[in-house]
Amino acid sequence: MIKVNFAPEIDTKRAGEILTEIEADLMGGWFDLPRKVDMAELSRIKEAAAKIQSEAEILVCIGIGGSYLGHRAIIEALGSRSPVKIVYAGNSLSRRELNRALEEVGDADFSVNVISKSGTTLEPAIAFEEFKKKLIEKYGEEAAAERIYATTDAEKGTLHDEAVSRGYTRFVVPDNIGGRYSVLTAVGLLPMAVAGVNIDKLLEGAAEFRESLDSETMANPAIQYAFIRNLLGQKNYDTEVFASFEPSAMYFNEWLKQLFGESEGKGKQGILPTSVIYSTDLHSLGQFMQDGRRNLFETIIDYPTDELNMKVVTAVKLAHAAGGIPVLSIRPESYDERGFGELIYFFELACAVSAKLFGVNPFDQPGVEAYKTELKKL
Ligand code: PA5
Repeated sequence: MIKVNFAPEIDTKRAGEILTEIEADLMGGWFDLPRKVDMAELSRIKEAAAKIQSEAEILVCIGIGGSYLGHRAIIEALGSRSPVKIVYAGNSLSRRELNRALEEVGDADFSVNVISKSGTTLEPAIAFEEFKKKLIEKYGEEAAAERIYATTDAEKGTLHDEAVSRGYTRFVVPDNIGGRYSVLTAVGLLPMAVAGVNIDKLLEGAAEFRESLDSETMANPAIQYAFIRNLLGQKNYDTEVFASFEPSAMYFNEWLKQLFGESEGKGKQGILPTSVIYSTDLHSLGQFMQDGRRNLFETIIDYPTDELNMKVVTAVKLAHAAGGIPVLSIRPESYDERGFGELIYFFELACAVSAKLFGVNPFDQPGVEAYKTELKKL
């Protein structure tokens, strides 16, 4: 179970109301996801992963935001345990980056997992066109379609319609699970399974954390964390620095930034999430952290680590606390699937509760939609 170094006073009535609201919310589908796993869907995911492993040297994962960051976070943190290399595309509009991904695939045998809940997002749509062309040139139209795995809405969207008409293998992003809360659905599970991540253990870790909410609701560290960051927010600590001492967990920080930024940053509310990897960034941002403007607090994800790294963790906690930074520490039990499963659920829950404490809807992203609309006009 995750350990934390804080025990704030909790408004138990408000916390109870918030949990009920989350459960009832149309977009709260992730809330019970770990303990209501669709076993048939899970088998389909595993079968598809095995097929990809048998047919491809590379899986091109096309997607952006919630359709990308979660699985990349876990795959990078745990390291690939499969002969299939994952290449990411469709997460920017840079032609240079797209060419780089196309070159990386080169002449290798490859398959494509295109992931887009809406099925209309421009970045993945453009990358998908390019990789589809490459697949067709290499394998022909029919065999190319057999190498395309589309994860999208069950009923609508350009990608959905194309997947149906061309016969791609389809996986569904459930309607009631928003992009940034979707890592434990086919969105994240398929690429992770291809990369050799044990997705059963990941789901077990998340389920275990979900169970702990039932037995000790107010003592649950996710609830405590949500309340303490809200308290800090009210005291004008308007920036949260997610810090970890594991370079391979850099994308987990990226996932966190999206989760909190998109869930909480609306209605002129929220805490700006940013991140560092220590000890690397102690040599760039360390000065500011120690002695710069005091509007930030630090949330250290205290992964189990080696002795020397552990000493740095302790030294940083002491130095930064002495420098006037509120330092929160979140310690997962292990640096493996189970530990990350726990962490995913911990942060999803904390984020949803925290956004509700700020009085905003954790599950929409009107700001993201605004940019998409402007871009389409241009
Ligand atoms: O969390 C979100 O909802 C967004 O970040 C989306 O995941 C992102 O915009 C990609 O959208 P889509 O999956 O529809 O292509």
